Amino acid sequence: MGIIVENNIFTLHTNNSSYQMKVDDKGSLIHTYYGKRTDETDYSYLIALADRGFSGNVPQAQDERTYSLDFMPQEFPVWGSGDYRVNCLQTDLGSGVNDCLLVFDSYKTYTGKYALQALPAMFASEHDKVETLEITLKDYHEAFYVHLLYGVFEDYDVITRAVVLENKTDQNIILSRIMSACLELNTSDWDMIHFYGRHAEERETERVPLFHGITELKSTRGTSSHQHNPFVILAEKNANEDMGECYGFSLLYSGGFHMQAEVDQTCQARLVMGIDDSDFSWELPSGACFTAPEVCMSYSALGLSKLSHNYHNAFLNHLIRSKWKDKQRPVLVNNWEATYFDFNAGKLLKIAEEASALGLDMLVLDDGWFGKRDSDYSGLGDWVVNEEKLGCSLKQLVDEVNGMGLMFGIWFEPEMISEDSDLYRAHPDWAMIVPGREPIRGRSQLVLDMTREDVQEYVKERLFAIMDSANIQYMKWDMNRSIAAAYSAKLSGKRQGEVRHRYILGLYHVLEALLQRYPDLLLEGCSGGGGRFDAGMLYYSPQIWCSDNTDAVERLRIQYGTSFAYPMSTVSAHVSVCPNHQNGRVTPFKTRGICAMQGTFGYELDLSKMTDEEKDMVRKQVQTFKQHYRLFQFGDYYRLTSPVDNHDYTAWEYANKNGEEACLSVVFTDLHGNPVPQIVKWKGLLANREYKVLRDMEPVGKYTGTALMQGGILLPIPKENYDSCQFYACVEE
Ligand code: DGJ
Repeated sequence: MGIIVENNIFTLHTNNSSYQMKVDDKGSLIHTYYGKRTDETDYSYLIALADRGFSGNVPQAQDERTYSLDFMPQEFPVWGSGDYRVNCLQTDLGSGVNDCLLVFDSYKTYTGKYALQALPAMFASEHDKVETLEITLKDYHEAFYVHLLYGVFEDYDVITRAVVLENKTDQNIILSRIMSACLELNTSDWDMIHFYGRHAEERETERVPLFHGITELKSTRGTSSHQHNPFVILAEKNANEDMGECYGFSLLYSGGFHMQAEVDQTCQARLVMGIDDSDFSWELPSGACFTAPEVCMSYSALGLSKLSHNYHNAFLNHLIRSKWKDKQRPVLVNNWEATYFDFNAGKLLKIAEEASALGLDMLVLDDGWFGKRDSDYSGLGDWVVNEEKLGCSLKQLVDEVNGMGLMFGIWFEPEMISEDSDLYRAHPDWAMIVPGREPIRGRSQLVLDMTREDVQEYVKERLFAIMDSANIQYMKWDMNRSIAAAYSAKLSGKRQGEVRHRYILGLYHVLEALLQRYPDLLLEGCSGGGGRFDAGMLYYSPQIWCSDNTDAVERLRIQYGTSFAYPMSTVSAHVSVCPNHQNGRVTPFKTRGICAMQGTFGYELDLSKMTDEEKDMVRKQVQTFKQHYRLFQFGDYYRLTSPVDNHDYTAWEYANKNGEEACLSVVFTDLHGNPVPQIVKWKGLLANREYKVLRDMEPVGKYTGTALMQGGILLPIPKENYDSCQFYACVEE
C-alpha cells in the first residue's frame, strides 16, 4: 500500500521513502515528514509551538498565540495567512486583497495516476504500483477550492505533485502566483545543487549552502531556459554520489519557472517550485479551474547516483511516451555544422551516400529548406519547401535518401515568425508585438502568438502538409529566442499576464496534435541547443539536442550536469569537426566519438569531406555504439568523477541492470610531464563474478567484480591533449 490514511494523517510510502502530512486541530494541512522509509508514526510531535512574536495567528487559533502558520510546516502555504515566508499561492478572492486562508475539506484515494488537463504529467498503467491521493482544501470564507494531487510511484521512490484550483464562488478570482509544490524540512543545513548556464554552456553544476534568507532560481524567458534548469537538488552537507540524503525536484514545464528555498527564523527550510510569477496573472472565472504543472519529487538516502537513477528510471518508464524510448535510435548525420544555410540536394545526397556507406541510419536536414531562408534574417513561418534551392521536391530528395537505406529527418521552428516572410506580411498581428511599440527582436525574429487558435491551426496545417508530402521519420523542433514582451491581440489589456502560460499550453496542444497524427515520429526537442531541456518536453520528445556547443570537452560538463535528472538516452550528442565551430578547440576524433556516445549518438559534419582514416574511425564508432546500444540506453549511468572538481580527467560508466556488462569511458582533460598513476573504481558490477576487461577493444585482463569495484582499474597515460579511452567489462560465461 503506497498511501495510508489514519486519524487525519496521510502517509505515502515508496520502497525507500516516506512522506507524511496531517490535518491538525485548526484544520491546517501540515507537513510532518519526508525522508527514509518509516512507519506511520505521527511525526507532528516534532513541531515546536511557541509564541514567536510578530507571527500572525489564524482566526481558528483565536487567542492561542503559540499557533502561527509563520513557522508551521505546511503542504500548501498561502500569502495573506500570517505566514510571511515564500508561498504557493497569491490570490484575490474578491476583496481586492490577496488574503486566502486554506483549511482541510476532504480527501480521496484511488489506484493509478491522476492525469492533468492540457499539461504533461507522469503516467502509469493498471499493472503499476501507483496510487493517487487527492486532498481538497477550501478557503476559510469563500467557495474557493484547492485540490492537491499526489501520485505515489512505489517502485521508483518518486512522488509527483500538482495542484488544481477551482472557483466555485460567483465571481471572478484573480491569481497572481501559483506554485505547484512546497517541501518543508525541519533543519536548515542543506546544500542546493542546481544547473545554471547560458547559450552553448547549459547546465553547469553548482553546489551552494542554503542561508537565512531566500535562494532563488528563475527563468523569466518564456522557456525553461539555458540560464537555469527546472531541476534542483537539496543535499546533506556530506552527501556525495554514494552516500547521504538528498531530495530532487523536477518541474514538468517548458516555460518560465520559479524556485525559491528559504531558511526561516526558526531554522527550517522551505522549498517552493512552480511557474514563473514575475509577469503572471490569471483571471479565473466563476466555475472554472486552473491547473498548475506537475513536480516530480524523489528522495535518496544513498546519495546522488541513486537519486539520478530514480529519475532516469521514472522518466524512462512513466514520463516519456514515445515508442522510440524502447527502440534503437538511429545514428544520424545532421547537416547544420556541415553546410549551415548553404546546401542543395546534390550536397545533401553526397553526405547521405557517405552516411550510408559508413553504417549510419539517418540524414537530418536542418534549417534553410523552406521559404526564403538563406540566412537567419528571413523566412520563418513560410513552411513551404524551397524547391529552387534544393533543386528538387522534398519527396524526390527523401526518396533518394531512403533508396540509400537511410531514414530522413527534418528541422522546423514552428513557434517563430520572421518579419521578412509571407506569413508576417499576411498576418502581422500573429506576431507578439505590443501595439504602438517597436518589437523586441531576438536572432532577428519574432515570436508567434501560440495562445491563438488560428495560429495553432496554421502551424498544424503546415507541419502536417510537409510531413504528408514525404517519408519523414524524425523532426527536430527548434525554438531560437527568449520571449520578451508577451502580448496577445486576442486578450484584453488586463489579461496579458496570462500570455506566457497560455503560450506553453498552445505549444503543448500543437505537440500533442502532431504526435497523435504521427505516433511513430521520432521528435527531437531543441531550443538553440538545450534551452528547453526539461521534463515537460520529454513527455513529447524522447531526446533533446543538449547544446549548440559540440566541443567534446565542454560537453563533458554540460552532459554531466544534464545527467543528474535526465536519462542519457534523452541527451542528443554529435561528433563535429575540429577546430570546433564554437570554441576553436582541437580534440582527437576518438574523443569526440566517446563523448557523443555518452548520449544519443550522431554526427554533425560533412562526411563527404573526411579523410579515409577518419571514415574508418566513423565506421568503428558506429559499430561500437550499435554493439553496446542497449547498455547505453538502458543501463544504469554512473558519474565516476566530476569535471567541475577533477581537472585531470572525467570518467563515467554504464552498467547493465543485471550487472553483467559495463562500459567505462575516460577523457583526459590535462597533461603532466610526470603523471601520477590514476585509478578509477567501477560501479554496479557483481562482486563475485569474473569479468573480461577490454580497453579500446584490446584485452586488458580478467578481474572479479570486487577487484574492479574496490581496487579499480589503472588508467593509461594520456598521449596527447584530450586523449581518451573506453573500457568494456563483461562476465565470462
Ligand atoms: C539552433 C539549433 O540548436 C541548431 O542545432 C540549429 O538547428 C540551428 N538552430 C538552426 O537555426
